[in-house]
Amino acid sequence: MNTGTLAGRCFLSVLDFSPDDLEHHLALAATLKRDRRLGREAATSAALQGTYVAILFEKPSLRTRSTFEIAIRELGGDFIDPSADVALGTRESLADVGRSLERWVEGAVVRTYDQARIVDLAMATSELRVINALSNDEHPCQALADCLTLQERWGTLRGRRVAFVGDGNNVATSFAQAATMLGVTVHVATPEGFALPAQVGADVERIARHGAELVQFTDPVAAVRGVDAVYTDVWTSMGREGEQAERNRLFAPFQVNEALLAHAGADVCFLHCLPAHRGEEVTDAVIDGPASVVFDQAENRLHTGKALLVMLFED
Ligand code: CP
Ligand code: NVA
Repeated sequence: MNTGTLAGRCFLSVLDFSPDDLEHHLALAATLKRDRRLGREAATSAALQGTYVAILFEKPSLRTRSTFEIAIRELGGDFIDPSADVALGTRESLADVGRSLERWVEGAVVRTYDQARIVDLAMATSELRVINALSNDEHPCQALADCLTLQERWGTLRGRRVAFVGDGNNVATSFAQAATMLGVTVHVATPEGFALPAQVGADVERIARHGAELVQFTDPVAAVRGVDAVYTDVWTSMGREGEQAERNRLFAPFQVNEALLAHAGADVCFLHCLPAHRGEEVTDAVIDGPASVVFDQAENRLHTGKALLVMLFED
């Protein structure tokens, strides 16, 4: 699909950012984080003044919904929250929802199933800033917070290695795209049949910088050996609950526990987008242990969400 008319207006994928956009975004997010204590005195406190954003979610959310609602308000804007069965159901086409919404609001933050639904909504409109707040395929806003968290930890991401262990899912896809753009080599360890889609590998070959690569593994120990960070996510994403029992069986050797983490580098940090299924993909000892930065990631959803809104709404 030609999504060229969306450039600079929408953030449906990490691929909508160039590496320079991504670096600019992270610098802005760091500034907004520092300046949050200034409240209404912050330089961006009126960036969304007079601006309405629609929050359209048809899957549950704590972090994404809360941080976008706070971000919009802290930037001087306001939001509406039409119910999912009305805005994203079978009542009318998504294109007509978008064409109606853009007569009243300037932006839409959308969490849904197929990535194509978010693209359809964005393509049907000409002014609406559309943000992908998670689809089955991608979670680009999460990747922004992940990169800020690692940048805070390391200063620069260039030359680092991160292992994503578990399901080759939406979070893994967006992380692999963003991290390789910033010069991080990403190892993805999954059971056979759960690797990242081939398209992600092709995209990474095009966007990776500073010698970064995407390397897929089926052996979690080999993937984790010597890396600077280990990332995992739930084995069963929203919408796949019917597969949970089978996935728990297949993914059991991919649990991130202290024994697996011991194969990583000495200063390894542990990432999880949350929500976590403790005792499945990660043990309490790891997620509550000294390597864990999961609540820094959760905090950074706010600052990176704000920076994204500022970038999409600035003229
Ligand atoms: N990480 C994340 O997107 O969390 P929520 O599902 O709670 O928004
Ligand atoms: N992969 C998970 C991420 C939740 C934030 C899901 O899609 O359910």
